[in-house]
Amino acid sequence: MKPSIAMNETRRHSSLISRYALIAVSIGAIAGLFAWTGGWIRWPSTQQALTPARLIDAFEADTSPHPGFRRNHAKGVCVSGHFESNGNGAQLSRASVFKAGVVPLVGRLSAPGFDPTQEDDTAMVRSFALRFTTSDGEQWRMAMNSVPIFAVRTPEALYQQLAALRPDAASGRVDPAKMEMFLEKHPETKAFHEWLASHPASSNFYNASYFSINAFRFTNAQGNTRFVRWSVVPDATYQPVSAAMTRDPDFLAHDLSKRLERGPVRWNLMITPAAPGDPTNDATRVWPQERELHRVDAGVLVIDKAESQIDGACRDINFDPLVLPAGIEPSDDPLLAARSSAYAVSFNRRTREEAQAAQSANTRR
Ligand code: HEM
Repeated sequence: MKPSIAMNETRRHSSLISRYALIAVSIGAIAGLFAWTGGWIRWPSTQQALTPARLIDAFEADTSPHPGFRRNHAKGVCVSGHFESNGNGAQLSRASVFKAGVVPLVGRLSAPGFDPTQEDDTAMVRSFALRFTTSDGEQWRMAMNSVPIFAVRTPEALYQQLAALRPDAASGRVDPAKMEMFLEKHPETKAFHEWLASHPASSNFYNASYFSINAFRFTNAQGNTRFVRWSVVPDATYQPVSAAMTRDPDFLAHDLSKRLERGPVRWNLMITPAAPGDPTNDATRVWPQERELHRVDAGVLVIDKAESQIDGACRDINFDPLVLPAGIEPSDDPLLAARSSAYAVSFNRRTREEAQAAQSANTRR
């Protein structure tokens, strides 16, 4: 017997529903897997789930309110320029940013910290965020620090570190005993503190190297994949901060503006492939020094303009490290998913505050 048109319709409908259900379940499973490998889920019976919003609440709890500012790396300056790609990066990734040519850049130089008014001599680390935009409309965003490793391996450890650094409500002081307890529980953090102790902060933004820290997966046009980390290495020679400089609490931004009056500042973008066995999911561990022998010099970053972050081009950019062009993918590092989702919460809160401030200024007029 031939099936009727109505029966065919019903079958088609139910097969469509089951296909949609399968897609929904697959997406849910992939999202769950990401969240799980990202250390982003906890069973309610064991402890309260760590969410991006709770992580940002923890940053906020360590300082007084600074509406409109980034919840970390709050003090910084917008910069812009271009990337002169020499074509060598194409050995490792098919991303169009690595084709020989010039790619415009918007960036931000900053220091870690929750307070946009902090004095520059308190910062032991410098930071560099960049957004590359290629002519085909793709973007590559990154946010790097001047230390090749991170203090913690997981978002949970970062949350605990923020709790240990929280000033006591009565005294307003950080309790060193809490930090000692944290360090005892997290021996992996030692490498970061040792690195800081042996590398005094650079005297300016443009004589520091900056590191991706997290690993990423590059795929070239032939389909070959490699895990990599990258760094940007300055033209200028490293110098430590001098006592005279620290008389100006904003010496980093002031010195940059003065230096740019004499012409642009430059870094080379160096990409370091991993060898089998190098950790791609642990930002607290460096890769063996000999990997640097095989690093690829992909071209020159040129910065020729700096402007205030209050109204500069970087203000409303979220330098989310997971905004990646085709040819670059995240590694299995659990910090990456956490960074992406936490930066989004910080971005949403600060841009909402900016909008509210603009609205109340308008109503006052
Ligand atoms: C789970 C780990 C991390 C969390 C939760 C976190 C959190 C944050 C937050 C909330 C912001 C402000 C975002 C905004 O409002 O636009 C930020 C900015 C930044 N972070 Fe992270 N961070 C993490 C790891 C890292 C690592 C590993 C690096 C270095 C590779 C890094 C480098 C930076 C830099 C350079 C900025 C400033 C970006 C800008 O100028 O807009 N962060 N981070």
